[in-house]
Amino acid sequence: DETATSMLKRQAAEHAVAFVQSGMTVGLGTGSTAIFATRHIAALLQEGALREVVAFATSVAVRREAESLGIPLLADDMPRAIDLTIDGADEIDPRLDLIKGGGGALLREKIVAEASRRVIIVADDGKLSPCLGTRWPVPVEVLPYGWQSQARYLATLGAEVALRRDAAGAELRTDQGNLILDCRFGPIADAADLARSLAARAGIMEHGLFLGIAHDVVIAGCDGIRHLRR
Ligand code: A5P
Repeated sequence: DETATSMLKRQAAEHAVAFVQSGMTVGLGTGSTAIFATRHIAALLQEGALREVVAFATSVAVRREAESLGIPLLADDMPRAIDLTIDGADEIDPRLDLIKGGGGALLREKIVAEASRRVIIVADDGKLSPCLGTRWPVPVEVLPYGWQSQARYLATLGAEVALRRDAAGAELRTDQGNLILDCRFGPIADAADLARSLAARAGIMEHGLFLGIAHDVVIAGCDGIRHLRR
């Protein structure tokens, strides 16, 4: 049985898949929304409605899923640019800036987004926010070496910092073997300034602020689908 939210996630994802054309190289996002896009692409390839699509995965988890669905995949060194990436987000502001990384894949997701000609974000309308940081912490991926120094630095920037743990309570490791510090800032007045402070610090490998990266946002609500463009 599909819950109401997961039905909205599927609607948004399938709306975005309509922009995938035969012959494209497609970036596959991570998370419970983007997975619907991956499954829909697989179904369209299966029935022949799409042909010669090659995909590139934003996490080990979605690569495994795509493999099991028979979607052809590019090698991890990304031998060509990506035409279109469909990915989820945790929080979306009116400028279409995002917080991502709730699923822990932010570094690969940003690499793929920056290599893509077009990035479509898919979400249910519960992800909309007047100001980033209101609903969600900013995930920060840090090298395990010296990580507590990064936690102290993040606290000086005004964050309440929590080391992310997996379901078993162990410290969560990303696909790169790094740690994630979830940084609760509250509403972020100047996200670009915060992004610069995060990028400037050695040991911080990436952060979940995706500013000026999304070209399109497809939002599904019970009143229908909205397609926002930057
Ligand atoms: C993964 O690291 C994230 O950036 C996801 O795209 C984000 O957390 C959205 O996930 P859901 O679609 O599961 O809410």
